[in-house]
Amino acid sequence: MFYPITRLRRLRLNQNIRDLIKETEITLNDLIYPMFIIPGKSKSEEIESMPGIFRHSIDNALKEISEIVELGIKAILLFGIPEKKDNIATGAYSKKGIIQNAVKSIKKEFKDLIVITDLCLCEYTDHGHCGVIHDGYVDNDETLELLSLTALSHAEAGADIIAPSDMMDGRVAKIREVLDDNEFLNIIIMSYSAKYASAFYGPFRDAAKSAPSFGDRKSYQMNPPNIREAIREIEQDIEEGADIIMVKPALCYLDVISAVREEFNHPLAAYSVSGEYSMVKAASKMGWIDEQKIVLEMLTSIKRAGADIIITYFAKQIAKSMSK
Ligand code: PBG
Repeated sequence: MFYPITRLRRLRLNQNIRDLIKETEITLNDLIYPMFIIPGKSKSEEIESMPGIFRHSIDNALKEISEIVELGIKAILLFGIPEKKDNIATGAYSKKGIIQNAVKSIKKEFKDLIVITDLCLCEYTDHGHCGVIHDGYVDNDETLELLSLTALSHAEAGADIIAPSDMMDGRVAKIREVLDDNEFLNIIIMSYSAKYASAFYGPFRDAAKSAPSFGDRKSYQMNPPNIREAIREIEQDIEEGADIIMVKPALCYLDVISAVREEFNHPLAAYSVSGEYSMVKAASKMGWIDEQKIVLEMLTSIKRAGADIIITYFAKQIAKSMSK
C-alpha cells in the first residue's frame, strides 16, 4: 500500500507517537563507564584530550563512583596506571598492584556495582606493547602466562568481570582455565574479541600513558578493512568460553557490530573509544555541534546496529541527562 493511502508521516506526528513506535532505546542498564586509576592519595588529573575524564587515585575514584552509582550506572571498567613500568609488566599481576587495590576498595564500598577489569599488559610495560617482546615481536604464548596470572589476581581482588583486551591468540581459554582451576567459576569473561588496530585509541594512550615506544599494534590487533576476520575472532573466543563478546571501536565499525549480531547469540558489547569521545568534545567546544544530541544519536546508532552493551566515556553525562 503506497501514498496516498499510506502516509508514513502519520507516525511522526508528535513526540508521544514517535516515542510509542520507537525501536531503539538507550537505558542505564546498557552502559559501562571506563575509569583510570593512578597511585597516590587525593589525586585527580583531568586528561587533556578527554575533557571531563580523570585519572583518579583510589580515594578520589570512590567519590566519582558514588556519584555515578547515585545516577544509576551499574558497571564500571577499570584501567590502572602503575607507579613503575618494566619489560615484563610486573605491576599488572602484583597482588598489591593498582588495579588489585582499587577493586578491593571499590567492592568493599559498592557491593552491587559490577566491577570489570581491563586485562592487558600495555599500561604496565615500559615499551607500551601488550605483551612480552622478543626480537621486536610480541610473544603470544609467553604473554598468555602473564595474562593468566593477571586475571587470577583480578579475580582474587574481587572483580566481577574480566575483560581481556590484548588480542593474543588463545587468551580466553587460558583465562577460563586458570579461573576455573581456582574456583572462580562465576567470574564472567567479556572478551575484546574483534579489536581493531585503530587510530581512535590515541587519546586513551595519553590517558593511560601506554603508547608503544616503537612500532605499532598491527601484529596483534585487527586490520580495519577486514570483517570476515572479525567473525573468525569471535568464533574462536566463543569456542574458548567467552561469556560476552565485543567489537571495538564502535562508530566506524557499526557494520561489524551488525554482522556479529546476525551471526551470534552471545551478549554483544561495543566500545565507543576515546577518539570518538574526544572528537565530539572538540567539535562541541568549537560550538559546531549540539553535543548532547550528537551523543544520544551516536549511542543509539550503536545499539540499533545490534550492541546490547555500550562502553562509553559519555555514560555519566547520559545518566545525568536521563535523571533530569
Ligand atoms: C589496552 C586498551 C586500549 C584501549 C582499551 N584497552 C588501548 C590500546 O589497545 O591501544 C583503548 C580504549 C580507548 O581508546 O578508549 N590494550
